Amino acid sequence: MDLGLKGKVALITGASKGIGLETALHLAYEGAKVAICARNGEYLETAAARIYEQTGVEPLQIVADVTIEEDCKRAVTKTAEHFGRLDIVINNAGSSAVQPFEQVETALWQQDLDLKLFGAIHCSRYALPYMRREGKGAIVNVNASIAKTPPASSLPTTVSRAAGMALTKAMSKDLGPDNIRVNTVCIGLIKSDQIEKRWKREAPEQTWEQYANDPKHQIPLGRIGNTEEAAKVITFLVSDAASYVSGTAVNIDGGKSGVL
Ligand SMILES: NC(=O)c1ccc[n+]([C@@H]2O[C@H](COP(=O)([O-])OP(=O)(O)OC[C@H]3O[C@@H](n4cnc5c(N)ncnc54)[C@H](OP(=O)(O)O)[C@@H]3O)[C@@H](O)[C@H]2O)c1
Repeated sequence: MDLGLKGKVALITGASKGIGLETALHLAYEGAKVAICARNGEYLETAAARIYEQTGVEPLQIVADVTIEEDCKRAVTKTAEHFGRLDIVINNAGSSAVQPFEQVETALWQQDLDLKLFGAIHCSRYALPYMRREGKGAIVNVNASIAKTPPASSLPTTVSRAAGMALTKAMSKDLGPDNIRVNTVCIGLIKSDQIEKRWKREAPEQTWEQYANDPKHQIPLGRIGNTEEAAKVITFLVSDAASYVSGTAVNIDGGKSGVL
C-alpha cells in the first residue's frame, strides 16, 4: 500500500527517543522529510545519526522545549523554512507524571499541562498556515489510554491527557473544512525509557522478558508493546491511507483499555 508520504514534511516533537524517534524513522523509510525536536541536543544528535544511517534521510534537528510557546513557534517555522513546506505535526513530547491527587503541587499541574496540552496547542496552531497553503495537513496527538479511564494516583497526567482528547476532537471539527485531519493515539504500555525506568524501580529482580510478559499488567495480548508497534499506527494516521480518518482516538495498548 502506498502511504503517499514521499516528499511530505513532518515535525515530530520528543523525537530523540522512544515512540517519537521510531515514528521519525518510519516516516523517513516512507520517503518523508523529518524534523525532530527535543530538549537534549546530544540525544537529538544520536537520533539524527541513526535516522540517517538507517534511511539515508538527513533529519533537521531542533533543540526546543515544547513547554515554551516561542520554542514551538521556532520549531514549526524552522521546519517549514528548511524544507519549504510543512504537512504533518506529531505532538509526541511527554513524560510520566503520576501521583495521588493530594501530592500534586500546583506547579506540577501547570508543568504537566504546559507539556502535554499547551505543547500540542502551540505546535499545531503555528503549523496551520503552512498546512492551509498545501490545501491539507495531518496532526496526531500522542496520548495515553488512561485519559479515558483515570485510575487512582494517576494525576496530573490523566487530566492533561483527557484535555488532549477534547482538544483533538474539537480541532478535528474546526479544521476539517481546511482538509486538516486531527487524530490521537492512546498508548498503554510501550517499551521506552519511561517504561524501562519503571521496570527497574518496580521489579529489578525480573529480566525484561519476565517483566514485559508479567500477567500483573493485565494486557490481553500478554505483553508490553514495542515502539515500532506504536510508530506504525501513527505513520498510518498521518498518511494519505487514512485520508478519511479524523477526530478519532486509536488505542495502542494490546487490548488493555476497558473502553473503545
Ligand atoms: N511508553 C509508554 O508506555 C507511554 C504510555 C502512555 C503515554 N506515553 C506518551 O507517549 C509519548 C512518547 O513516550 P515515550 O515512552 O516514547 O517517551 P520517552 O522515550 O521518554 O521520550 C520522550 C521524548 O520527549 C522528549 N521531551 C520530553 N519533554 C520535552 C519537552 N518539554 N520538550 C521537547 N521534548 C521533550 C524527550 O527528550 P528530552 O528529554 O531531551 O526533551 C524524548 O525525546 C509521551 O508523550 C508519553 O507521555 C507513553
